[in-house]
Amino acid sequence: MLTNLQQQPADALLALIKLHNADPRTDKIDLGVGVYRTGQGDTPVFGAIKAAEKKLAETQESKAYLGPEGDMGFVEALMPYVFGKVDPTLGGRIEGMQTPGGTGSLRLALAMVKRAGVRRVLMGTPSWPNHAQICADLDLEMAGFNHATPDGTADMDALREVLRSAGEGDAILLHGCCHNPSGIDYENDEWDEIARLVAERKVLPLIDLAYQGLGLGMDEDAYGLRRVLVAVPEALVAYSCDKNFGLYRDRVGALYVMMGEEAQLAAAMSNGHALARANWSQPPDHGAAAVRLVLEDEALVREWLDELDTMRERIRQVRSRLAAAGKVGTLDLAPLGGQNGMFSILKLDKEQILALREKHGVYMAGSGRINVAGLTLGNIDTFVDALEEVTTG
Ligand code: LMR
Repeated sequence: MLTNLQQQPADALLALIKLHNADPRTDKIDLGVGVYRTGQGDTPVFGAIKAAEKKLAETQESKAYLGPEGDMGFVEALMPYVFGKVDPTLGGRIEGMQTPGGTGSLRLALAMVKRAGVRRVLMGTPSWPNHAQICADLDLEMAGFNHATPDGTADMDALREVLRSAGEGDAILLHGCCHNPSGIDYENDEWDEIARLVAERKVLPLIDLAYQGLGLGMDEDAYGLRRVLVAVPEALVAYSCDKNFGLYRDRVGALYVMMGEEAQLAAAMSNGHALARANWSQPPDHGAAAVRLVLEDEALVREWLDELDTMRERIRQVRSRLAAAGKVGTLDLAPLGGQNGMFSILKLDKEQILALREKHGVYMAGSGRINVAGLTLGNIDTFVDALEEVTTG
């Protein structure tokens, strides 16, 4: 029976981790999977998380089950950072649950919209490959539209066009900040328009916020999400703490659901709980408990936000250095300076990407996406020289 299963290709991005690890060159450069790296090339555990983990080890008295919603203290403590300080529940209309990372949250959100009768998911392309993969696995139809114009700005015309022909029964998946893979985010006035259009067309927004704090700042990166949420009756937010708390493999995320009225939340959330039960039953506790302990302690919150500021500033610094290189072979690196978060796309073909890997030990996704946090002030020049060489032959 099981021989009916066909060989599947390995996930291209995750396969890069193994390829990079197996490369013995000491000067190799890893710009593949999206993890933050310090100027020394490390991905350390946050100091605030270390302190919270210590506290957790000392004070946690039980590891008994919590239920499919996970650690609700974590889910609620995060809300003021996501939705704003004044009324993070938007009048009691938002409720959340813990999920295994952002992917768990997206999986639940998309399964819920499918159950609710959504027929199509509108999605700017390129997008994070797992978005399409989850939709395909759930048999959800996708309608792609260009996320960016060739000159590197958000393609508002394409978005307007797709929304013009959209309506009730459609959902739209939007990257809240730090667009993955392009780094091209909507400006605030563009978010204002998106909020208005999505509300007018009665399209259900699903906002993926996986990099809050790594773009322009915690509040700045939530501008679009907050703007959309006050304009529409219903929305879903897939949140990840994997990057902004550095918890990657601990898989820490949350799904938030906003309904038109508070009384409608129980039925909607019961679907999230039932879907979680059928998928992973209950989310892993450790990372979420550590985040909760950070958020419950003012000094740890300050330490966490300082660490996040340092990360964001380093990413900005690398971006400025790349942008200053300007024209490199056939590439123009200048736009990278105005893009946000860890990722940007370089217009490279398959051969050039392979040559970068084989000749120069530079690892990047097959789409030409680079994780700029993988660069250090010590290896940027080598990287830029390698780009020049592969693009000019
Ligand atoms: C990435 O895009 O590199 C990250 O979100 C990690 C992943 O799971 O793909």
